[in-house]
Amino acid sequence: MPSSLRRGKGKLEIDWEEMEAIEAEHRAGRGLFGGDPYLRHARNPHVPPEPARWFCLAQASDEHRARLRDFLTSAPSELEIGAGDGRFIVEWASMHPERHFLAFEVRGRLVHTMYRAIEERGLTNVWVCDDDARAAIPEIVPPGSIEVIHILMPDPWWKQRHARCRLFSLHMLSILAQALKPGGILRFESDVEGYPEFLDMLIERHPDFEPHDPALAERFANIPLTTRQQWCVEHGVPIFRRFYRRRASGAPAEAQP
Ligand SMILES: C[S@@+](CC[C@H](N)C(=O)[O-])C[C@H]1O[C@@H](n2cnc3c(N)ncnc32)[C@H](O)[C@@H]1O
Repeated sequence: MPSSLRRGKGKLEIDWEEMEAIEAEHRAGRGLFGGDPYLRHARNPHVPPEPARWFCLAQASDEHRARLRDFLTSAPSELEIGAGDGRFIVEWASMHPERHFLAFEVRGRLVHTMYRAIEERGLTNVWVCDDDARAAIPEIVPPGSIEVIHILMPDPWWKQRHARCRLFSLHMLSILAQALKPGGILRFESDVEGYPEFLDMLIERHPDFEPHDPALAERFANIPLTTRQQWCVEHGVPIFRRFYRRRASGAPAEAQP
């Protein structure tokens, strides 16, 4: 039986059976942005040569994988998923040279814009990855290595026929939990009414996350904005925030709907 939320412009529906079917497709490399990540190289000739801090699953050598692994484990590290043009991550990384960052973005033009900004600023503490984060994180992020995951203003993909594009599912929460250190934080922000409640519903069913804790907002006071957030501020559109802590004990587990 689907559970649904009707707010704002549309409806975010959770059909648990369909979610499981989509997760199985994703695990098989189907229905992801850019298609099967290991077959993308034919369509992606613009990746700068190694050792550039750009990761593409289909092209990375074993040395490059090891380089990224070392990068993520040699300093407190953070991920951003759906970084867009990189406005937030570039600013945040400039403010925290002691921390390491990996930004995922599937739209080639935006990845190039972000990468250019990183180069222009001379930042050595940011890598980008142009693969779908749902496929790439389990492959390239060492388990338990990440302190914070930022997911800012993701598309809601209202229509049921676009459900496979949605970032969040129980399986995705397992992927994020696996990447996070115990006590690590999943930071989510959205201007879409109903989206935070949709995520609360998933988190409630997941054994590895604590419920939203508003007190964690303090840690992110005065944090830079994304391009979409800047637009929201200029147009008086409210932004809803959620902070979920990865539970400190227990191994990451698959959630049961
Ligand atoms: C609505 S835009 C928001 C961009 C930026 N965070 C902002 O607030 O301006 C969402 C972005 O997430 C990217 N995205 C969506 N699903 C993704 C995935 N599975 N892996 C990596 N990037 C993804 C999209 O390409 C898009 O650029």
